[in-house]
Amino acid sequence: MLILGIESSCDETGVALFDAEGEGRLLCHALHTQIALHRAYGGVVPELASRDHIRRVLPLFRKVLKDSGRKATNIDAVAYTQGPGLAGALLVGAAFAEGLAFALGVPLVPVHHLEGHLLSPLLSQGAPAFPFVALLVSGGHTQLMRVEGVGRYALLGETLDDAAGEAFDKTAKLLGLPYPGGAALSELADHGRPGRVRFPRPMLRSKDLNFSFSGLKTAALLKVQALRNSTDGYPAGGVEKTEGTEEAGGFDDTTRADIARGFQEAVVDVLVDKSVRALKNCGLERLVVAGGVGANRELRRRLDQVARGFTVFYPELEYCTDNGAMIALAGALRFREGLSIVPPGGGFSVKPRWPLESAASESGLPCPAAV
Ligand code: KG4
Ligand code: ZN
Repeated sequence: MLILGIESSCDETGVALFDAEGEGRLLCHALHTQIALHRAYGGVVPELASRDHIRRVLPLFRKVLKDSGRKATNIDAVAYTQGPGLAGALLVGAAFAEGLAFALGVPLVPVHHLEGHLLSPLLSQGAPAFPFVALLVSGGHTQLMRVEGVGRYALLGETLDDAAGEAFDKTAKLLGLPYPGGAALSELADHGRPGRVRFPRPMLRSKDLNFSFSGLKTAALLKVQALRNSTDGYPAGGVEKTEGTEEAGGFDDTTRADIARGFQEAVVDVLVDKSVRALKNCGLERLVVAGGVGANRELRRRLDQVARGFTVFYPELEYCTDNGAMIALAGALRFREGLSIVPPGGGFSVKPRWPLESAASESGLPCPAAV
């Protein structure tokens, strides 16, 4: 049973073919990232994103068929990202999926983008068994979910403002790093000195499992402004300036790295603390970390360090950021369970704003308590 998966929610076009027979295995996936296209604008330009998806989706589909040695007529269902995401970008993938499914006379399987992320560790060897807690940390979302099975999710906590990835990207921009800055900021942080620049830990002491990252981004802005205005490279009461470093934009490379390190430490501290608390509250022993920020090495190192009494599962790096493989996988699991299948010619829709919990209740399955 072959499921084609199509991802087009933001700035990556992804197409993948998943064989849902038996244990299930990914046959092939192909990806085109628009990072270079949007870099000049410092962020995703929705109209450019849509137009580029139109250009890429068919060649990627042909590549997946060629590389896997399968024909279009072998496909049994077409899964696509229905939301959340950019409306125009989603429409390209959805329209392509609908057209193909109609031509082949096979059903459509609409998939929630975050469901794709949180199931993505199931693409790897040694996949976690249900139930587990999932920490979803992407450019648009930061959530802790209790996952009981496919389509059975309860929200435990989420960000009240910016997503962790968004805070990474905005802080990276402040430090002069190119879009999307998360990975670049993390590399810069590797050269920073621990404890030199200290950031607050937002909501660390709050009793709930919610997050807040917009203040952290503002704290970074204030630090950078203070450094630019200071004569000695550090604000009053700050740390000492290092000899022999090159000045750039009012502060040197070492200072930039110190800021990056301090920022990353603050974000990671909060993510780790709340994830451990979520596991304890739920009485669960498996944590899945998914989404682009899940690629962050420091986050992985710290989680592994504190992982006593529980195991942490990560998707492979190529499946952390957006891709078609996770949509094909989620589509295959939904198809197997008979969830949200649209018969050929049944039409399509997109949901730019779509909370995962409401997608879970639409599945008609019992959802776990959110504790
Ligand atoms: O999951 P994703 O590809 O797209 C969304 O669904 O949002 O996540 C992209 C986000 C961006 O904010 C990017 O900067 C961040 O993930 N990211 C990272 C790293 N790699 C990607 N953030 C921190 N450290 C990384 N290594
Ligand atoms: Zn994503």
